[in-house]
Amino acid sequence: MSWWWAGAIRKNGTAPPKDQSVALVVGVTGIVGNSLAEILPLFDTPGGPWKVYGVARRSQPSWSADHPITYIQCDISDPQQTRDKLSKLTDVTHIFYATWSSRPTEAENGAANGAMLMNVLEAIIPHDQNLEHISLLTGRKHYLGSFETFRKIQPHDPPYHEDLPRLDSPNFYYVQEDILMEEVKKKEGLTWSVHRPNMIFGFSPCGLMNVARSLCAYAAICKHEGMKLRFPGTRMWWESYRDASDADLIAEQQIWAAVDPNAKNEAFNCTNGDVFKWKHLWKVLAEKFGLEYEEFFEDGERLTLEEMMKDKGEVWDQIVKENGLLPSKLEQVGCWWVTDFALTFDSGLDTMNKSKEHGFLGFRNTMASFASLIDKMKAYKIVP
Ligand SMILES: NC(=O)c1ccc[n+]([C@@H]2O[C@H](COP(=O)([O-])OP(=O)(O)OC[C@H]3O[C@@H](n4cnc5c(N)ncnc54)[C@H](OP(=O)(O)O)[C@@H]3O)[C@@H](O)[C@H]2O)c1
Repeated sequence: MSWWWAGAIRKNGTAPPKDQSVALVVGVTGIVGNSLAEILPLFDTPGGPWKVYGVARRSQPSWSADHPITYIQCDISDPQQTRDKLSKLTDVTHIFYATWSSRPTEAENGAANGAMLMNVLEAIIPHDQNLEHISLLTGRKHYLGSFETFRKIQPHDPPYHEDLPRLDSPNFYYVQEDILMEEVKKKEGLTWSVHRPNMIFGFSPCGLMNVARSLCAYAAICKHEGMKLRFPGTRMWWESYRDASDADLIAEQQIWAAVDPNAKNEAFNCTNGDVFKWKHLWKVLAEKFGLEYEEFFEDGERLTLEEMMKDKGEVWDQIVKENGLLPSKLEQVGCWWVTDFALTFDSGLDTMNKSKEHGFLGFRNTMASFASLIDKMKAYKIVP
């Protein structure tokens, strides 16, 4: 539990505060959406007790069925469906927008993700007198540039901080922020916050980008095939300092910004507050899967997970069957391109100063966060 969280409970005594808040979590089965769905309904969550609506397209998965939320199946890329299903929710006080859609180009990303956000805001803002705050989840690509322009444009000089100007390059985060700023003007007193994590370590069997889940699948395949756990990267990536964002920490920061007046109408970085090296997390990964791991060795050609895993679908099917895992296909569990991407950095940390200066002192120990996430994925039978 974070310091500010414990402080919030102490301030209010042991009883939860009286005012009820109502959250709409858009992307509730995603990597951060799931953390919000777990944390918001807890009795001691600041701003609570919280009633929670959660939106995603697929029917509610079994692994999220225990969360005490009202699950709404809705495709927010469809304006009519979004209006029909969400404009009835006139008691929502806080929107937590934690979703995205991946398109081939950043221009298309901007159009698609801008439209999705707009559909939700247009369905809620005009009909809901109770709405107080909108929280938007974006990420570090705000400072680095989009996937499309990565290594093609000059990113900002790290450490990244929230006052850096926008890059002169298309970015769907900028489109979303512009929409948010315009839409909040439509209701007096409506506030916003933007949250910018780096690579997220979190629990979701169905999100589009999940590096920890992918690495677990890779480790399980190495184990199954009697291979050592090799690092698919360069020595520089193996040894450089990196940072990550625990999904529960992001949810805590979003909830803090939703209820603390000091945090209103601001953008915040959100990382764990420590640094790690892949060579250290590699050891944790190997231990959790009972594998030998190799210290980095350079054999000339760089391995990528995308190449190494391209013919392993049947191996994964066998692993699922032998271990009684939740049914899944390798292409759902392993996000190889994004994991390869996540390994390919030699520098580029952010600063959490602004968040701390505004009062959010939450942090995570990245090694511990990674280890407990692997335990959770094993417990839920996502990985063996
Ligand atoms: N994952 C990371 O490591 C990471 C790191 C930094 C920044 N970010 C940023 O965080 C933001 C949120 O991404 P995420 O990774 O948290 O998402 P995610 O894990 O892929 O989850 C997306 C969620 O939204 C739902 N969804 C997708 N399309 C939908 C639609 N059209 N209508 C309704 N629900 C929909 C998904 O469920 P269904 O598929 O069932 O609809 C799922 O619940 C993005 O801007 C991303 O760039 C992510």
